Amino acid sequence: MHWSDRPFELGARGRHAHLKVRGLAAGYGAFLVLRGLDFEVRPGLTVILGPNGAGKTTLLRALSGLIPRGGEVLLDGDDLPEKTHEIVRGGVALVPEGRQLFPQMTVTENLELGGWLVPKAERARRLEQVLADFPKLRERAGQLAGTMSGGEQQMVAVARAMMAAPRLLMLDEPSLGLAPRMVDELLAIARRIADGGTTVLMVEQNVKKALAVADRGYVLERGALVASGPARLLARSTVIREAYLGAESDTDKTTDARTARAAVTA
Ligand SMILES: Nc1ncnc2c1ncn2[C@@H]1O[C@H](COP(=O)(O)OP(=O)(O)OP(=O)(O)O)[C@@H](O)[C@H]1O
Ligand SMILES: [Mg+2]
Repeated sequence: MHWSDRPFELGARGRHAHLKVRGLAAGYGAFLVLRGLDFEVRPGLTVILGPNGAGKTTLLRALSGLIPRGGEVLLDGDDLPEKTHEIVRGGVALVPEGRQLFPQMTVTENLELGGWLVPKAERARRLEQVLADFPKLRERAGQLAGTMSGGEQQMVAVARAMMAAPRLLMLDEPSLGLAPRMVDELLAIARRIADGGTTVLMVEQNVKKALAVADRGYVLERGALVASGPARLLARSTVIREAYLGAESDTDKTTDARTARAAVTA
């Protein structure tokens, strides 16, 4: 079997984590972006779609403890802690918008940072595993992260998060700014991680491609969830076709949500 078809070794193999959220509220100071969201992230790959400014990143930040949140969040039946490091320890990892690698550090050093919570020997074991899961990164282990292409950097960011062996991995627009072939590769990686037993919650604006790899999806608009369902049904739903895929939905063209939305609202 080709490496790119194998499920990932690293991660929460067989854990199949399940996140349940009731009444999630979050924002910045007095500005409430999300008000009372109810949703769940079942084992597999769930995608959150929505236009710019809808609150997608805010949602992932709230679940990572980077901003305060209200409401109830249960991970496998237990309350999700409030503090970021406790959330990470609890098995939740975030690949943030814009990757946020350390450009002056090597690939290996960036990856090691993803295993900061585990003892040295275990960190070394995970590094070996992550390089087996991402053979392209092994060839680049000594390269400064800042000198890599956008797609390679995104791969490092995902691999770094996998160093925490999360049971829930959250990805914020992994395909942003990448060439179509790299978009496909990154989305395939997200799929393989989910197939390896790590539950994946992914924010994407590449609507058609994201729904093609996801199991389920939600659509977030102005801080509220306006549609949800199995990915295959969502792709055919009126809300997605009209607002995100527009007239292109019957062709093979890739439609970026931003462009599609602009075209629809123009
Ligand atoms: N640090 C911040 N302080 C104040 N307001 C913020 C902050 N970050 C985001 N916002 C606001 O919160 C709202 C939601 O932003 P968010 O980044 O969650 O949207 P998004 O759906 O991720 O958009 P995009 O597709 O552009 O990434 C926007 O109105 C934004 O201006
Ligand atoms: Mg965002």
